[in-house]
Amino acid sequence: FHVTWDAESAEKEGYEHFMIKEIHEQPKGVSETLLRRLDTDENIVLDGIKLTKEDLENINKVYIVACGTAYHAGLVGRYAIEKFAKIPVEVDVASEFRYRDPFVDDKTLFIAVSQSGETLDTLAALREAKRKGARILSIVNVVGSSVARESDDVFYTWAGPEIAVASTKAYTTQLVAMYLVALHMSSVKGTLTKDQYDGIIKELKTMPEKVKNILDNHTRIQHLADGQFNNESVFFMGRGLDVHVAHEGSLKLKEISYINSFAIAAGELKHGTIALIEDGTLVVALATQDRLYDKMLSNIQEVRARGAFVVGVAKEGNKEIEKTADVVLYVPDTMDELTPILSVIPLQLLAYYIAVARGCDVDKPKNLAKSVTVE
Ligand code: AGP
Repeated sequence: FHVTWDAESAEKEGYEHFMIKEIHEQPKGVSETLLRRLDTDENIVLDGIKLTKEDLENINKVYIVACGTAYHAGLVGRYAIEKFAKIPVEVDVASEFRYRDPFVDDKTLFIAVSQSGETLDTLAALREAKRKGARILSIVNVVGSSVARESDDVFYTWAGPEIAVASTKAYTTQLVAMYLVALHMSSVKGTLTKDQYDGIIKELKTMPEKVKNILDNHTRIQHLADGQFNNESVFFMGRGLDVHVAHEGSLKLKEISYINSFAIAAGELKHGTIALIEDGTLVVALATQDRLYDKMLSNIQEVRARGAFVVGVAKEGNKEIEKTADVVLYVPDTMDELTPILSVIPLQLLAYYIAVARGCDVDKPKNLAKSVTVE
């Protein structure tokens, strides 16, 4: 007998969908994106970026502009650049940036984030910023794409071709790119001590293994999804960096399972959203930020008191959350600033397994294209 492999199944290397294959390629993508940029002394070498100390001294405004998942990576990028390089950053979705006549001049750094490098709104926003004199830096996954070609500096994510419409490995490699750009800026500006800088690099280097650790425990998330795939709506909530990952987790779920889901800053619960919580409402609560952990525990109690079924995401060792959440998905411990690389993984898996349980076309969701080259 012989096994007939069609081209597509060969490309899936035995995985059922491109999306789950790409989820499992993240340790490699994160490692490739990171290690190619560290020299033997662990200094960051960003080959495609020619930003000098003078250039950076001349920058007094940074915009990070993107769409969808890339926008969510930009939100984490803002936190990293502000915290590591002490430069104020504004983040905007490209479709809004290009029409609001933004303040841009030759002291502006415009950072475009785009997996495909062909998203029309992002390209149009880039052209608008360039026309007004901004320096253009882009974080792109496709070599030679339009966004890359029209930028002054390019940081390529080495995620490899991403086929599934729902972006996963591009997102985590975009996060690595944002951290490295922020660290590069901090070393040029001298805003971090050598110990701080070395500590972050050292922790970044543990990420591939920590991502793999989560992926190795995917069956637990698959079982959870099998019990939760019939929800009409799902809420994601968090505080600090966890809000941005909550938005990414919500986008993953809605675009492949078609379940109505959205994300909120947990502190906003009392300002309206809590009115929607009823018996059995599925709430995914991210509680990875040490300094906001206790506040998240009380937000979890608030929604549970109204009947919510809460899936918590927390760092290993934080057992307290087990007293309030119904289920806890743990990620390996790491510094607060870097948790998004890890906390997004359980959310990607949860979205994937729920979509599969619902019989959805995971790799090609209805009405969606991999690259949105129209307005
Ligand atoms: C993410 O899962 C979606 N496929 C979509 O939001 C995507 O992130 C967005 O269209 C931006 O695409 P780009 O990164 O290629 O510019």
